[in-house]
Amino acid sequence: KNIQNIIIAIDGHSSCGKSTVAKDLAKKFDLTYIDTGAMYRAVTLFARQKGLISDGQVHTDALQNQIGNIHVELRKNPTSKQVETFLNGTNVEAQIRTLEISKHVSAISALAFVRKRMVELQQEMGKAGGVVLDGRDIGTVVFPDAHLKIFMTASPEIRAQRRFDEMQEKGEAVTFKEILDNVVLRDHLDSTRKESPLKQAEDAWVLDNSHLSRQDQLDWILDRLQKNGWL
Ligand code: DC
Repeated sequence: KNIQNIIIAIDGHSSCGKSTVAKDLAKKFDLTYIDTGAMYRAVTLFARQKGLISDGQVHTDALQNQIGNIHVELRKNPTSKQVETFLNGTNVEAQIRTLEISKHVSAISALAFVRKRMVELQQEMGKAGGVVLDGRDIGTVVFPDAHLKIFMTASPEIRAQRRFDEMQEKGEAVTFKEILDNVVLRDHLDSTRKESPLKQAEDAWVLDNSHLSRQDQLDWILDRLQKNGWL
């Protein structure tokens, strides 16, 4: 077992710190971080830019016709070492993180043809190993044979508070209630959709980080890696 070949799958509810721990792991072991939520967000941004979402309704046929024109890439910024999302060659990292996109992303990520394309891309990016992916269906659909599967969760209030603090920092004018409503709604939509709903893989380790620090949660995973012979 060589950590440079590992595939780590981190699934769970929105805003529970999946990306934080995934980035920490990637940094510690020099793995590639694949933020699959960013990919669905980029498709959502594309649909918005093309006017394919109106009144919360997606113009599914039109989007399906254009799906071949959507090129999503995750590139590592050589200076900051952060992974950034590109849509058709343009850096859209900031644009995809707004509440506006969060509100529409569930409708886009529920579409089978969108998921099919994104899953293929994710499998292509991750198959060589040395990767940590975060999302909703990584351990169940994208890499059912992942070497380590983590299912993360935390209470909706704690998750909303974390996201609220983040948005305050960025200066986005949103209320706590709006964020909490979005978190609760997305939990519901992500878990009840027909295509690849969010669910815990049978062989996943459950990590509730409601009361864990960033270091605690990393240590928790390092412990699992060690017990499984990866360290
Ligand atoms: O992790 P996130 O909040 O950036 O994800 C955005 C949305 O994309 C989320 O509401 C559900 C969806 N998603 C998904 O359906 N499958 C994934 N593998 C990742 C995200």
